Amino acid sequence: MNDWFADGALAEYCVTRPDWIAPKPRRIGHAEAASVPIGALAAWQGLFDRAKLQPGERVLIHGGAGAVGVYAIQLAHAHGAHVITTVSAHNIAFVRALGADQAIDYKAGPFEKEAQDIDVVFDTVGGETLRRSWSVLKSNGRLVTIAAGSEATSGERVKQAFFIVEPNHAQLAEVGQRIDAGILQPVVDSIVPFSQAAEAYAGTVERKGRGKLVVMSAVDCAQTRTPPPAGRR
Ligand SMILES: NC(=O)c1ccc[n+]([C@@H]2O[C@H](COP(=O)([O-])OP(=O)(O)OC[C@H]3O[C@@H](n4cnc5c(N)ncnc54)[C@H](OP(=O)(O)O)[C@@H]3O)[C@@H](O)[C@H]2O)c1
Repeated sequence: MNDWFADGALAEYCVTRPDWIAPKPRRIGHAEAASVPIGALAAWQGLFDRAKLQPGERVLIHGGAGAVGVYAIQLAHAHGAHVITTVSAHNIAFVRALGADQAIDYKAGPFEKEAQDIDVVFDTVGGETLRRSWSVLKSNGRLVTIAAGSEATSGERVKQAFFIVEPNHAQLAEVGQRIDAGILQPVVDSIVPFSQAAEAYAGTVERKGRGKLVVMSAVDCAQTRTPPPAGRR
């Protein structure tokens, strides 16, 4: 993972630093590997470095089917937390399979009705969802938010709750080991060629609405869909 503020995420080559990268997990391909760092590290740093989530605590993850949410659910579950997450109805079975103990359809009614006494809120949605989340916290509860809309806030408590993911070799290496061990699953929403990169960023390409969208060179895209004969990789 390169620095959040560095250009070049779609370049064929980039300059990086040893402490920002980790070996690609062996059991997944390059498209899946590219989908991992931002989501997994944002989830890791929010849950463990900032919110100090403890085993047995109740965590509410907003946007559990999103690119960051899928890691937050899996990491919190593996840590022994009770995981509650908000999703659309069609994603309920999906997030439960990732390890959510309770999945709330946020379109069916206010999530506050079903989620109370929360130790940690991990918010990836922001706005109204974030505003309404303070009330579900226990008195010693913690809230973290990564939602882009929270970055420019002037409110002091949202400022304190917001953070931007940072490259971290040790955490990324641990994530890679868990993927190789089969206990953490990357979720690729879809793969689009470079020619559709602008549309991908604009959010106008078709998505399944689960996990990360990956932009790939046309050649790699073709190889991903039709694996080359053995020995040619
Ligand atoms: N600060 C950082 O370091 C950092 C790092 C990564 C991402 N981000 C930001 O974090 C946000 C989320 O990123 P992402 O990549 O995970 O997004 P994403 O993959 O686009 O997923 C967003 C998910 O939110 C769900 N959603 C939408 N409205 C919702 C609501 N009211 N309540 C609950 N869920 C809702 C949707 O799921 P359903 O289909 O189930 O409705 C969707 O899957 C973005 O603003 C992104 O820019 C920040």
